[in-house]
Amino acid sequence: MALTTNTALAQLQPSGIRRITAFAKQTPGCILLTLGEPDGNTADVVKEEVAKSLAANETHYPPNNGTVELRRAIAAHMEKRNLAYGEDEIIVTCGATEALFAALSSILNPGDEVLVPTPAFGLYESIISVNRATFVPVDTRPTKFQLTLGQLEAAATDRTKAIVLTSPNNPTGCVLDPRSLDAVAKFAKAHDVFVICDDVYTSLVYEGVYKSDEGVHLGFASCYGELRDRIIVCDSFSKPYAMTGWRLGWVAADAPISAQIAKMHQYMVSSVPSFVQRAAIRALKEDVAPAREVYRGRRDYVLARLREIGFDVVEPDGAFYVFPSIEKFGMSSDEFCTRLIAEKGVALVPGSCFAAEGFVRLSYCCSMENLEEGLNRLAAFVQTLEQRFV
Ligand SMILES: Cc1ncc(COP(=O)(O)O)c(C=O)c1O
Repeated sequence: MALTTNTALAQLQPSGIRRITAFAKQTPGCILLTLGEPDGNTADVVKEEVAKSLAANETHYPPNNGTVELRRAIAAHMEKRNLAYGEDEIIVTCGATEALFAALSSILNPGDEVLVPTPAFGLYESIISVNRATFVPVDTRPTKFQLTLGQLEAAATDRTKAIVLTSPNNPTGCVLDPRSLDAVAKFAKAHDVFVICDDVYTSLVYEGVYKSDEGVHLGFASCYGELRDRIIVCDSFSKPYAMTGWRLGWVAADAPISAQIAKMHQYMVSSVPSFVQRAAIRALKEDVAPAREVYRGRRDYVLARLREIGFDVVEPDGAFYVFPSIEKFGMSSDEFCTRLIAEKGVALVPGSCFAAEGFVRLSYCCSMENLEEGLNRLAAFVQTLEQRFV
C-alpha cells in the first residue's frame, strides 16, 4: 500500500507573504514594508533575566502550563484590562500561534464552522482546516472593516461553532467599534458560539472607545464578561515587547475550557522553555507607551502620504499596519505587489494573503527613512499607472 500523509495538510498553501518577501529579497535595494514584527529589539532588562535563569539552573522541565509566578503575573496584567482570570485558567504557550492552535483544536470537531471576519490573518484558516472544520469568511470590506449582526446572521448555520475576533486587526489595523462588539455579543449569546479573541495587538491601540480607569484599551473580553464561559483570550509577548523570536504567549479561558486547552498544549509542546519565564515576568513590567507613540507618529505620516498619493484608506487605530484599496487600478493585489517590487523596488503584501482582494498591506515597522523612500517609490509607481489612463 502506498504511503499517504494527512490530507488536511495537503490543502494548505505555502504563505503568500513568504513568497512576496522572498521575491523582494532577491531584488537589490528593495525596501520591505511587509514585516509583521517590531523593528526594535527586546529590552536589555528583559534579556538579562535569561542569564540569571540559566545561572540558577532553570533548565529542567517546567510545569506544563508555565510557572505559577509567570501565570500570576499574567493574571495581574490581564486585570488591568478588567479581565479576571485565575492563575489556573492561564496557559503559557509558544506564542499566540500555539495559543490559537491549542484553543481552536480544543473546541473543534470535524464539520464545525468557524466565522472569521475578513480581511484576516492567514493562520486561522490553516488551523481550522487542519482540524477538518470549515473556515467561513465574513467579508467586512463593505462595512469599513466593522461587523454587523446582519453579516453574522447571514453566515450562521447550525454548525457554527466559533467566531474569531482580531482587534486591532492584522492586516487593517482597525479596532472593532462598540456596535461591532455588541453585534458579536448578541450573536454569541443567541447561537451559543465560542468567541476567540486574538488580542496580540491590544496594547497597541491609539484610539479606542472603551478604556479602563488607567486608560488601558478594553476589547471584547473586557466588555462582555457575562460571556466568560465562551470567551477564549489569546495573547502574546511578541508585538508589544519586541519578543517575536522568544515564541511566548498565553491563552486564558473559563476553567472547564482551559482544562481542555491544557491537554492539547501538554501533548503538543509539553511546556515553553524554563529559562525564558522569569524574563517574561520582567517584560510585563515594561511600559509599552513609548513604542506605541512611535507607531502612532508613523501611522499619521503614512496615512497622510497615502491620502496625498490618492489612496482610499480606512484610518487604522492600532497595530502597525494600513490597508489601502487598490481597486481603482484594475489589477489583482498580487500583480500590483509583484510589479511594485519589480518596477520600483518597494514591497507590500497583497490583500489576497488575507482573503481580501482589492487591497494591499503596508507595515510601518521600519525606520522613517525607509518609510519616506518607500512611499516616494509607491507614489512614482501610482503615477506610472495613472499615466496609462490619460
Ligand atoms: C493577528 C495575529 N495573531 C497571532 C499572531 C502570532 O503571533 P505570535 O508571534 O505570538 O505567535 C500574529 C503574528 O503576526 C498576528 O498578526
